[in-house]
Amino acid sequence: MCGIVGYIGNNNTKEVLLNGLEKLEYRGYDSAGIATLNDDGINLFKVKGRIAALRSKVETDDSFATMGIGHTRWATHGAPSEENAHPHQSTTQRFTIVHNGVIENYKDVRNEFLGDVTLHSETDTEIIVQLIEKLYQELGDVVQAFREAIALLKGSYAVALIDAEDQDTIYVAKNKSPLLVGLGDGFNVVASDSMATLQVTDRYMELEDKEIIIVSRDNVELQKLDGTVVEREPFTVEIDATDIEKGTYPHFMLKEIDEQPFVMRKIIQEYQDENDEIKLDEQVRQAMLETDRVYIIAAGTSFHAGLVGKQFLENIANVPVEVHIASEFSYNMPLLSEKPLFVFISQSGETADSRSVLVKIKELGHPSLTLTNVPGSTLSREADYTLHLHAGPEIAVASTKAYTAQIAVLAILAVDTAKAKRLSFDFNPLQELAIVANAMEGLTDQKEIIEEIARDFFTETRNAFYIGRGLDYFVVQEASLKLKEISYIQAEGFAGGELKHGTIALIEDGTPVIALATQESVNLSIRGNVQEVAARGAKTCVISMKGLEQEGDTLVLPHVHELLTPLVSVVPMQLLAYYAALHRDCDVDKPRNLAKSVTVE
Ligand code: F6R
Repeated sequence: MCGIVGYIGNNNTKEVLLNGLEKLEYRGYDSAGIATLNDDGINLFKVKGRIAALRSKVETDDSFATMGIGHTRWATHGAPSEENAHPHQSTTQRFTIVHNGVIENYKDVRNEFLGDVTLHSETDTEIIVQLIEKLYQELGDVVQAFREAIALLKGSYAVALIDAEDQDTIYVAKNKSPLLVGLGDGFNVVASDSMATLQVTDRYMELEDKEIIIVSRDNVELQKLDGTVVEREPFTVEIDATDIEKGTYPHFMLKEIDEQPFVMRKIIQEYQDENDEIKLDEQVRQAMLETDRVYIIAAGTSFHAGLVGKQFLENIANVPVEVHIASEFSYNMPLLSEKPLFVFISQSGETADSRSVLVKIKELGHPSLTLTNVPGSTLSREADYTLHLHAGPEIAVASTKAYTAQIAVLAILAVDTAKAKRLSFDFNPLQELAIVANAMEGLTDQKEIIEEIARDFFTETRNAFYIGRGLDYFVVQEASLKLKEISYIQAEGFAGGELKHGTIALIEDGTPVIALATQESVNLSIRGNVQEVAARGAKTCVISMKGLEQEGDTLVLPHVHELLTPLVSVVPMQLLAYYAALHRDCDVDKPRNLAKSVTVE
């Protein structure tokens, strides 16, 4: 996690760095800092807290500098504090560094090379900058010291380093953590994500693992760790800078919930050919035909999308599927089939837990497909194939439109596979997704009712339960994650039939229970479960689907194909979580302790 940014040019670096960090705050926000360099030397600004606090601090200083580096932190080693905030400096303050990642061998490096150095923070990052200084004292050459220090590190890192004696260079290196160098006219930038610097350039150079790049105002030189120069063509990022602004919305989360109908239509457009048939990469189709079992690997919300995807792939395409939480896969590795296909689902494409599974299964020689919202991301680059989610940048920490995009693309993949296998089925996903888009639009217009439910059910409560059966069970798991992460209410999503096996003991007078009833085959049984909890004092709310509604239901969703109900039923769940967080005065877009892109295992 953490976000880094750097700028070297002719303008005031402070503004570029602060703007960039504001865009990277989704990567962590417990402390932040920048270092700028001019004729007076290094100016260091650090705060515990968010970029807004850093901005206030920086604005009290009128120094001008044309190069610098910045960082927003999600603490791994050492508590959030000013001392542990980046940038970190070597003892003589000659070198200053920002770092995203985790140095696994930092204790060994400290013991072996830095026994005589007094450290000023509890971070693994300070070890890197102290090591660079130590090696510089021995070698007398900054590039060589930088390269040799980087070669000694184990773990993940994206680093940017400046030398107080040199106003013309930023030294950059990367392993496992994302990092791009943006190319401008008379300036260059460094960023964890192009979103940070899209305002100033849309041309970027990618670094591969264990490469360094020496960045000056007019040039960038890419090298391997042994000093060999690497030639690489830059690429153009096609995100519109306005996509990453809130516009008139109070929060990104609300904007992203409202964007879901457009995302559905965009997916239809991207996956439809001129004959209105599904358009899909032929290699992906072949991989799906050749596999005898799909292993979906994902985390959090993407894992929940995977649970729905399993139903599509099994019921429509007749492909057996297992869905695994990425962080558990290594310890609970299943017996693999003869021809496994690994499908990674990840909004960011950077989740470290998923990436470590990808590395492992590649070593075993198995094929892989990534479904991601960020095509140039690590999981996309390293997997054999990629399917793009086309959801547009998702900025709020709580994932919304990426979840529905993942489910929509999984439905298309399932139908495409079924067609390729010549299976008979009665389901045109592109047409059905168009109906879903309209249904979503109808729902986002019902915000007042949903806000009222949230106020009534969640303003005071400490806990809440969601129940569902069949596909609804997967959606209530996502619903409870949304509520937990942004409103801090202890919430759980249960299978309706499982309640009586223990959980029902938790029901007390007034305990909120939200039930989903969108599946015909289980409509009566889930309603039986609602009666059971109501009889024990629960305050209940039933959200049903048109055609299945009963008197007293709190909200009736527009009718869509039964397989695609998660796409519609999740919308009120997202809005419930949003309004709950709002009424509880929580920071909707940046909930405590979280970061959007989880790049540490
Ligand atoms: C929850 C949320 C997280 C992510 C998870 C995986 O709202 O956003 O649970 O879904 O961290 O992230 P990706 O999809 O980027 O791999």
